[in-house]
Amino acid sequence: MIQIVKDSDTRPWFFLQTAHTTYGMRVMETGHLEHLYYGERITVDSQDPSSCAPLVIQRAFAPGNTCTYDREHPQISMEDVCLEVGTLGKGDIREPFLEVRFADGSVTSDFTFDSYEIITLKEREQCLQDSGLPHSYSEVGTDSAECLQIVLQDVTNHLELQLFYTVFEECDVITRSARLINHSDASVTLNRCLSAQLDLTEDYSMITHFSGAWAREMHREQISLRSGKFVNASYTGTSSNRSNPFMILGHKNTCETFGSCIGCNLIYSGNHYEALEKDSYGKLRFVSGINPQSFSRELTPEAHFDTPEAVLSYSSKGYGRLSRQLHSFIREHIVRGVWKRRPRPVLLNSWEACYFKIDERKLLQLAKAGADVGIELFVMDDGWFSGRNDDTSSLGDWEPDPKKLPGGIASLSKKIKALGVDFGLWVEPEMISENSRLYQEHPDWAMMIPEHPHSEGRNQRLLDLCNPEVQQYVIDSMTKVFSSGDIRYVKWDMNRNFSDIYSPYLPAAKQGETAHRYVLGLYHIMNELTTRFPEILFEGCSSGGNRFDLGILSYFPQIWASDNTDALCRTGIQNSYSYGYPLSVFTAHVSSCPNHQTLRITPLETRFQVASFGVLGYECNLKDLSGSDLNAIREQIALYKKWRDVFQFGSFYRGAENEASDSETLSWTCVSPDGRRAVGLFFRRLTVPNQSHDWYRPVGLLPDVKYHFYGRNIKYNLKDFGDLVNTVSPIHIKQGSALQEILSRFVNMDGEKEDLTAYGDTLMRAGIALKPAFAGTGYNSDTRLFPDFSSRIYFMEAVE
Ligand code: GLA
Repeated sequence: MIQIVKDSDTRPWFFLQTAHTTYGMRVMETGHLEHLYYGERITVDSQDPSSCAPLVIQRAFAPGNTCTYDREHPQISMEDVCLEVGTLGKGDIREPFLEVRFADGSVTSDFTFDSYEIITLKEREQCLQDSGLPHSYSEVGTDSAECLQIVLQDVTNHLELQLFYTVFEECDVITRSARLINHSDASVTLNRCLSAQLDLTEDYSMITHFSGAWAREMHREQISLRSGKFVNASYTGTSSNRSNPFMILGHKNTCETFGSCIGCNLIYSGNHYEALEKDSYGKLRFVSGINPQSFSRELTPEAHFDTPEAVLSYSSKGYGRLSRQLHSFIREHIVRGVWKRRPRPVLLNSWEACYFKIDERKLLQLAKAGADVGIELFVMDDGWFSGRNDDTSSLGDWEPDPKKLPGGIASLSKKIKALGVDFGLWVEPEMISENSRLYQEHPDWAMMIPEHPHSEGRNQRLLDLCNPEVQQYVIDSMTKVFSSGDIRYVKWDMNRNFSDIYSPYLPAAKQGETAHRYVLGLYHIMNELTTRFPEILFEGCSSGGNRFDLGILSYFPQIWASDNTDALCRTGIQNSYSYGYPLSVFTAHVSSCPNHQTLRITPLETRFQVASFGVLGYECNLKDLSGSDLNAIREQIALYKKWRDVFQFGSFYRGAENEASDSETLSWTCVSPDGRRAVGLFFRRLTVPNQSHDWYRPVGLLPDVKYHFYGRNIKYNLKDFGDLVNTVSPIHIKQGSALQEILSRFVNMDGEKEDLTAYGDTLMRAGIALKPAFAGTGYNSDTRLFPDFSSRIYFMEAVE
């Protein structure tokens, strides 16, 4: 709901009300838009404007040696005002929202209130669609979203700034974006135009951010900002695995279940910039938007520039509640198309099973092995197109390699369909190999600075997506690939960071727009292809999570979270993603051991259980697995299908213990929307000898409902006990011997059984004291065998 109150001077005050939050601002006496409040919902009485008076900072004199705004307002220093838009040159020396260079070389701008309007979401969407940027949306009739448009003018420079605030009431989210229009008769240069600014008087200086690198994405870090500035930005051309655009600002004591925090994300896939600055007067300014580094945009008379949409959400109940608000926002207002609510299939991907060594026979064998254990979708990864035997060639030449696929994609997809499995494939459409036909024909389609040496990245170059001809080539070549067989899924990869940034298509004066125009070109392509192929399930990928953001999710319903499939690493990576993204958008695969990224060995059960808290897939050579492993996988997949709706679309809760970065244990719970079914995970990193008691504490259950709590029926392999079996075996069993191998096929020991019925409040508050873990001094069927990297999943079902 948007509430507008007029004060005694008839200046408007604006309040954006969601179910549990309020965002307030007003037009101040100078005409600037002042930020008043963002936090837990407060009552705004439109009939009694004076009831809002406590929100206004009183000013009697200018502090210290600050510059005052003008002669008429000697008490107002812009440096000490909470603003919705900060600009350079009028006394505000903090991070600006905008930086414009005018024809005379000056950079001072000053925006004051002109008008406002409440517009429909359709009108706002229209405006954002024209910009070529992805944006949040609302299905008619499902949510009471509204949009407030506030128009500011820089009167002396003839610039107009339109601010858009959209309110998603039910999920406690508001979004911000802006449009700058040049009404002057000279061109101006835009050096920075951000999406959101939040000036805060409360101490939100505990920053949670997610840094990383390839194979170690989303490393959650917390730092407390005491003074100065913290910057979270990317300059890879992508949103990047180095620093995800999602950030949280919290109070010092905010934790999983308690305290205030504000989550911020950006619907954008290119270079982004977030900064938190503590000013000299103890206030905080947060800004978010396109990274101004090397960015510039020329605005000719009457031209405009649109910024990506920023997403803000406030929670008074800790990080857990904030995550669930963002999960429902992303599921309802970002992910779109037929796959929005459709259960995602369990897939088998060929990459770690075969790498580039694929051909029709091998792929069919793998798909057949997948069909036998219940796989629903088979994905042919890299290596299928003309001459692609390693990563040195062929990107751009999107035709099946006749040696590997003699019957093409049509024949392969048909044969795979005949196995009862859907077919999908891998592409990397934004790239060009120097060693390709496409490069020979169109060297100027690659991004590069002509006549200059080029830096390398996986032996490939970026296509110049600023060029409409190149965009069309990608659309046409992909349309041909996607129509060449029964293709139900596409993994869209992007494996190169930007270097030597230059578009041969753009004139010199526009090179500052290259990185942004690339992203707009990409969005145009994605929009076109997802419209042409609405039934295909698209999965984004960028060397794993190098472009995991809300821009990609506006087109593709899921993203490959990381090339790292090690179960231990994945507990951290997935736990971190869950802070800002729902489980239905990140994919997770069970792979072979030793793991290909870490050489670590983890139990197959743990690999499955961790991957289940995400969109489950497999990525290993099923043909080489033992019968017992295949049986285990068959059971895993059947189980996942039974609980898939809860895993993928339930409410997600992190256990309180996950918060400490050195915690030895971790727990997660997913609860069905009606609260009557839940599935949980309990994981321990390293075994502690002679300490056998563990508690699993579910979260999110209905307190007064009785649940049947139970685990899986597990069988232990004889080999799990090593030569300890000799303490009970009548004959000596040597480790690694043929005898051990044979016995292990027939002798299985029963695992511990957890089975009880209790009220939700008991389960949540007291936790479940689990069966004792093996501790070196005995074993029976009530012992929980829990070596390093072990986990269990537990189920909770309401009983009548
Ligand atoms: C990237 C992806 C992998 C795989 C390879 C293929 O690294 O992240 O999953 O598809 O490319 O070359």
